[in-house]
Amino acid sequence: MVNEEHVSVCEAETVKMLTIEPGADLSTPEMRRTAIETLEGGGVIYLPRSGFELTEQERDLISDTAKILTQEPDVQDGRPTIIFDPARGSIKKYHYARVRGKMMRAKVRDTARPDLEAAMARYGKWTESVIGQLFPSYQGTLDRKRVTYRPFQRSNIQALHIDSSYGYPTQGRGMLRIFSNIHPTTRPRIWQLGEPFEPFVRRFLPSVRLKEPSLISSILARLGIVDGTKTKYDQYIAALRALGMSDKEYQQTAPHKFMEFPPGSSWIAITDLVLHGAVSGQHSFDQTFYLPVDAMNDPSRSSLRILERLTGEALV
Ligand SMILES: [Fe+2]
Repeated sequence: MVNEEHVSVCEAETVKMLTIEPGADLSTPEMRRTAIETLEGGGVIYLPRSGFELTEQERDLISDTAKILTQEPDVQDGRPTIIFDPARGSIKKYHYARVRGKMMRAKVRDTARPDLEAAMARYGKWTESVIGQLFPSYQGTLDRKRVTYRPFQRSNIQALHIDSSYGYPTQGRGMLRIFSNIHPTTRPRIWQLGEPFEPFVRRFLPSVRLKEPSLISSILARLGIVDGTKTKYDQYIAALRALGMSDKEYQQTAPHKFMEFPPGSSWIAITDLVLHGAVSGQHSFDQTFYLPVDAMNDPSRSSLRILERLTGEALV
């Protein structure tokens, strides 16, 4: 049932992939052990038929983005996105993304909002049930954050990167994310996957120059306008991400492999540990959880502990 393989085309090592066949029992001890080993080791867990489905009505709704959004920008990079905040049970009204130098947001139609919110809330609950089956030891330790919906298509390649959390510092916690391709017909979501975290960090760490956190950002954090203060860990992750993304030679020569996720499939990764980049696709959901390092089966494999070991300093 459990089918483990290395997804490398190059000689060099790339991210490990665990495929869980449809219908497999996610809650057997062997499955749980293999899943946590893959996840914490910086691999990707792939569920070709995961079981999360939109209703007929929801599929019909998203099959024409004009039904859900007041305007469709001419975009290639899949943004802006729609963000659902599970704490409020609603879609964030003012979530902006920079698209070709302009700040844009996905303006959801009032007629579509209740259906979209219901689907995104149901998705969040479904991901919690997946966590309960595959990673019961994480239950009760995770902080469930946003659900992201990407209604726009991507048709250009996103550079390989690790996720950093921008306005939402994780303060050393991992970003455990469950993604699903919800395209209403046939379009796959394609990702590229890169090398493991540690060689990536070793390559770029000597170039990292941390800035002192600005006075404005610490005031915003203290006032609760941004979600917590940025720790050194958050700064390192953001700096490494930026260095890797802007290095054209790295992007061309680093080990990588393309992976295709068809509609109806899901995949799980700790995305601050996994070098990845979206390549193409349209319509996906993902749920982000923050995973405390001490909740991990092996905390030494977290991006925090690896960075602390390589920098020789405490980062949170
Ligand atoms: Fe990412």
